[in-house]
Amino acid sequence: MANATHLAIEEINAQGGVLGRPISFVDYDPKASPRIYRELAFKLMAEDRVRIVFGGYMSSCRKAILPEIEAFRGLLFYPTFYEGFEYSPRCFYTGAASNQSALQLARYLMEHHGSRFILVGSNYVFPYETNRVITDLVTQARGKILDEIYVPLDAKPDDFKRAIKQISKHAPDAVISTVVGSGVKMFYEAYAEAGFSAAAMPIAAITTSEAEIRTMQPEVAKGHLSSAPFFETVQTPAAKRFVAAYKARFGITEPVTACAEAAYFQVYVYARALDKAGTDNPDYLIRALGGIELDAPQGMVRIDPANHHTELWPRIGRVNAERAFDILWEAPIRVKPDPYFIAPTLDDWGSAPFVRRA
Ligand code: ACM
Repeated sequence: MANATHLAIEEINAQGGVLGRPISFVDYDPKASPRIYRELAFKLMAEDRVRIVFGGYMSSCRKAILPEIEAFRGLLFYPTFYEGFEYSPRCFYTGAASNQSALQLARYLMEHHGSRFILVGSNYVFPYETNRVITDLVTQARGKILDEIYVPLDAKPDDFKRAIKQISKHAPDAVISTVVGSGVKMFYEAYAEAGFSAAAMPIAAITTSEAEIRTMQPEVAKGHLSSAPFFETVQTPAAKRFVAAYKARFGITEPVTACAEAAYFQVYVYARALDKAGTDNPDYLIRALGGIELDAPQGMVRIDPANHHTELWPRIGRVNAERAFDILWEAPIRVKPDPYFIAPTLDDWGSAPFVRRA
């Protein structure tokens, strides 16, 4: 995400910046710690006099910095898929909310694999809330959640034993994963070691991207599913340009993820708003941001002025032998963000009809 943010800033500056000036930045590494996130957010705004912040992966970290962003009347651009059920006038969410990722995944699984699931997640707010939404959707469609298991954020291989035991016992149709971080590799390895078949009983993940897949042996990852608005294999002209530029800048083997894509296009959204507002005063930017439309790598995206989330293009991918995602399905129309999950059911217009690719 940091790489993609830098890439966008470099590209914009190479074209002369915005309003005749380059974008300059201050970079910190909060080490995935909510406490450090909050301290650095304070430092950015109190000492560095920064008002516009890009980044944040775990929802716990976003929730740690938002009070500082709000207190300093700043602005946060958050590029990660997340659970929804949040609104800050000072936050723009460019990753998928649950109605743009979890819903499509649940629906795909029920159409193609069955209706009995086990949920495995990391022990924090994003997996809890996402699993609550998935449970509602699956139960509403007469499916069944057989168990819901949480592992620590700093998971060790042994932490997956209970999950493996429950999966053996119940033999679900799929296992829905919201595990994050280094635990993802351990989980997929334990799954392969237990002899579970990705074809018969895939791990279907909201959190597993090219970056996690790249840490695994190909036979461990192959056949498992992920839901995201962007995969490295998306073939739009903007995606090809973005992936080529990213690899030219950071290395040909570097994975390009959905979070990187959102981190990249949100800088362009910001630049567009800056140009439109004529100032970097966050209060003016907020007004300029609503309704901005941009040709992002995933497709044409739009900032929803009503809730500050983004209209996106959900996709379902399956890991192939090259550890890339074959895209099995993509939304036929752009899906509006519904972070409070007011309307969706599995029959929601945004998730139908399925368009299968050859
Ligand atoms: C996340 O915590 N939003 C992945």
